[in-house]
Amino acid sequence: MKALILSGGHGTRLRPLTYSQQKQLIPVANKPVLFYAIEDVIEAGIHDIGIIVGPNAEQVKKTVLSRDWDARIEFIYQGEPKGLAHAILVARDYLGDDDFVMYLGDNILREGIVEHLEHFKEGNFDASILLCEVPNPRQFGVAEISEDGKTIRRLVEKPKVPPSNLALVGIYFFKPVIHEAVKNIRPSWRNELEITDAIQWLIDQGYRVGWTKVRNWWKDTGKPEDLLEANRLILDDIEADVRVQTSARIHGRVVIGEDSVIDEDTVIKGPVVIGKNVRIKNSYIGPYTSIGDNVVIENTEIEDSIVLEGSEIRNAGRIVESLIGRGVRIINSTSHPLGRKLVIGDNSRLIL
Ligand code: DAU
Repeated sequence: MKALILSGGHGTRLRPLTYSQQKQLIPVANKPVLFYAIEDVIEAGIHDIGIIVGPNAEQVKKTVLSRDWDARIEFIYQGEPKGLAHAILVARDYLGDDDFVMYLGDNILREGIVEHLEHFKEGNFDASILLCEVPNPRQFGVAEISEDGKTIRRLVEKPKVPPSNLALVGIYFFKPVIHEAVKNIRPSWRNELEITDAIQWLIDQGYRVGWTKVRNWWKDTGKPEDLLEANRLILDDIEADVRVQTSARIHGRVVIGEDSVIDEDTVIKGPVVIGKNVRIKNSYIGPYTSIGDNVVIENTEIEDSIVLEGSEIRNAGRIVESLIGRGVRIINSTSHPLGRKLVIGDNSRLIL
């Protein structure tokens, strides 16, 4: 069994962060989203992992290889993101005649894939998908289950009139027959080779497509609000781990990395994750906040937010529900002339 993890694509819904960073590398609770997928796959006993890379291939390789994994990892270059089924076409030689799990690198699944993989194997299905009840099925692939409840009857990608509220999670198990399916489909209205069409092809040819339902939570981190929500969900489960001496007032579950300096006028109320070499002075860090390495925060209140590495926030008042990129400077100047001086990238959002 192999794994194919997708880390290509343009990440347009996460601009401007994705102008300089591949979306699957954006950290949630200070860990790149992509690492959650790699960990799930290894936990399920799969040690051959192909990672599909696109426009920022080198960045993805460097980040993945910065950690020692209990797996043989290969990177497969897709070029332009022409669809999830196209990624399988590109990985044809790598996958050979093995069964495999395809895992979208921007998805996070709390419970991992172990039980879902068992169901695929035990049911001897040709493919098996994961489904999750969602309030907004129009934004996903949506499934209709057959009458016996065991297999899938129909799949539709982002339907205007959803046949159910069961969204396709971005994790799929396949037997090699999927290679025949991806060769037999045509690009969709969005000019992509859709994996939903390939699975529908299997169903139409009489192959058995099984399914399992997500028990815990699942997040597709395609949009800023989804990243913040994933951050809250992950922080809900963290355990306290303070690696430095500090006289800051710390309440609840808080993680603080090495070499961070937090002064006694600061209050931290968990769950909060703070990276390495962070400087915090006279500030309040509220629940559901993740602060990356080498960040500086002074005279600021921040809550329910993600701050990426190397950013600097001084005298900024109160910041909530925010996603702050790498190397950002937010400074409230008290010198005249007063007024807001802004250097903001394309597609940024400021709610003042
Ligand atoms: O997240 C679940 C949803 O993922 C499913 O419900 C849909 O059925 C499925 O089509 C997919 O929809 P999205 O519109 O969210 O897919 P997106 O284009 O965002 O791509 C998903 C991931 O795969 C993302 O991490 C980028 C990567 N990707 C995407 C394409 C199109 C690639 O690596 N190569 C590609 O060609």
